[in-house]
Amino acid sequence: MNTANRIQCQHDCDVLVIGSGAAGLSLALRLADSAAVAVLSKGALREGSTLWAQGGIAAVLDEKGDSVESHVRDTLNAGAGLCDRRVVQYAIEHGRESIRWLIDQGVPFTREISAKGEPRYHLMREGGHSQRRIFHSADTTGYAIETTLESKVRQHPGIGLFEHHMAVDLITGAKLGQREQRVLGAYVLNRRSDRVMLFRARAVVLATGGASKVYLYTTNPDLSTGDGLAMAWRAGCRVANMEFNQFHPTCLYHPKAKSFLISEAVRGEGGRLLLPDGTAFMERFDPRAELAPRDIVARAIDHEMKRHGLEHVLLDISHKPAGFIKQHFPNIYRRCLEFGFDITCEPIPVVPAAHYTCGGIMTDLRARTDIPGLYAAGEVAFTGLHGANRMASNSLLECLVFAAAAARDILQQLEHIPPPGELPPWDESRVTDSDEAIVVTHNWDELRRFMWDYVGIVRSDKRLERAMHRVELLSKEIAEYYGNFRINSDLLELRNLVVVAELIVRCAKTRKESRGLHYNLDYPGPDESHPPQNTILEPAPPPA
Ligand code: FAD
Ligand code: SIN
Repeated sequence: MNTANRIQCQHDCDVLVIGSGAAGLSLALRLADSAAVAVLSKGALREGSTLWAQGGIAAVLDEKGDSVESHVRDTLNAGAGLCDRRVVQYAIEHGRESIRWLIDQGVPFTREISAKGEPRYHLMREGGHSQRRIFHSADTTGYAIETTLESKVRQHPGIGLFEHHMAVDLITGAKLGQREQRVLGAYVLNRRSDRVMLFRARAVVLATGGASKVYLYTTNPDLSTGDGLAMAWRAGCRVANMEFNQFHPTCLYHPKAKSFLISEAVRGEGGRLLLPDGTAFMERFDPRAELAPRDIVARAIDHEMKRHGLEHVLLDISHKPAGFIKQHFPNIYRRCLEFGFDITCEPIPVVPAAHYTCGGIMTDLRARTDIPGLYAAGEVAFTGLHGANRMASNSLLECLVFAAAAARDILQQLEHIPPPGELPPWDESRVTDSDEAIVVTHNWDELRRFMWDYVGIVRSDKRLERAMHRVELLSKEIAEYYGNFRINSDLLELRNLVVVAELIVRCAKTRKESRGLHYNLDYPGPDESHPPQNTILEPAPPPA
């Protein structure tokens, strides 16, 4: 590569933030007055799960009628014995600061007038929460947060934005055979020019979101392919609790709806789950009925669908006044109407779909990973907050709290970290253009289907064995393909998804019990013979 090309293909910054959702953008804004920040997004800046969040963000702003203790208790209950109490306490105590920070950025949370005539924030209730404590912006909270932060980062001179730039792999001292293990940057595919760039940075943050695209049916946007998880694993980070993939109970069942989410807040406001003959069924599964934690509701729906051979169940909020429904759920009302359902006067068909990755890259209270200089924040991280089952609206909270923690730590560390030296450019000398793109499409479909069928809401040892066998075959085929052909984003995503699938199946096989989101027919209850344990996977040491 000549020098001109080399310079064009390289970007240097203090902090490289990979991902532009709630975690990535809030982190960039907290850093940018003091550091040169580059933010990557695989697609357009605002594309990510954050944009689609509906219900809101759980927090205790003041202690009138609610308390940090109560939020902590509900989170621990939902987490089925696996939450890290210290982390839960930390996240919830810092929730107030996060909400205030969002308000200061201009996020328009919904307000109301109290019975005493005072203005205040309107709070929603969702499954697992014993109190109304969800700050929201009608039913499009994610849109309000993402677009507010987007306009801020676009105006900030300290932030370089690289849209349609997909990180391929991290560069670490260990990978280059150096004694120092520190992260040094990343190789990044510019999807517009198809060229691979070299980003050098003193600190790198993975804020790449979740991995629910590993399942056939998901509420997530297409880019939730677990790229950050797979990159961190390949680079040598530990990963934990990947068996706990959350299935959201209620997505609209319609061939064109692409798993459009019907917010849990609809059940929070009185929505009932019904069989096609109009019978309510949730009381048979849990005294909290429709407001039981998500794992219980999703499993109950799955059970009823299998028992009666149904393609969906029904969700009904039509007993509430039409004005109330339109005021609280304007987006859900409008979208359902586009598909021919009027939620103000009829029940709608719903099914569960993969929604949230509770496991992830292991991080501490400063969002540090196992690799010096590498941080992870948001859905990609495993902080210990969610345990075996994330409680609704605790995810955006986690994004903001741990992005802030990472920013604080990075700003303290930065002056002590020398900039990385010369790094090797991306090497394409041994690959050619693919003549068999069908391999990628076929394997992509196969992977997502067997993950849904064998590693979904209800698992068994036999199903997990079958899934592992297929993961092994696909991993070999994809590694061979990756080694021989020039990369593109589809191939990179597939390569990452198969890593994620392997991590999920390995964790699921390790857990010989049912707990929270992980349900195995061969061990239908929790293992009470020892205290609940996280499933921690250690990457293989790099070849000597
Ligand atoms: P995301 O917002 O998913 O952003 C990921 C970013 O990483 C994107 O910018 C993407 O382009 C980038 N990226 C990924 N891979 C690469 C790569 N290789 N290179 C470069 N960039 C990359 N949680 C709540 O708390 N409350 C809710 O009400 C709520 N509702 C939800 C509704 C829906 C439909 C969905 C899907 C999720 C919901 N969640 C909710 C979960 C929550 O929205 C997510 O967990 C959270 O937004 C994740 O934020 P994030 O910043 O970690 O990642
Ligand atoms: C919802 O609105 O039901 C989603 C909330 C969440 O995933 O936290």
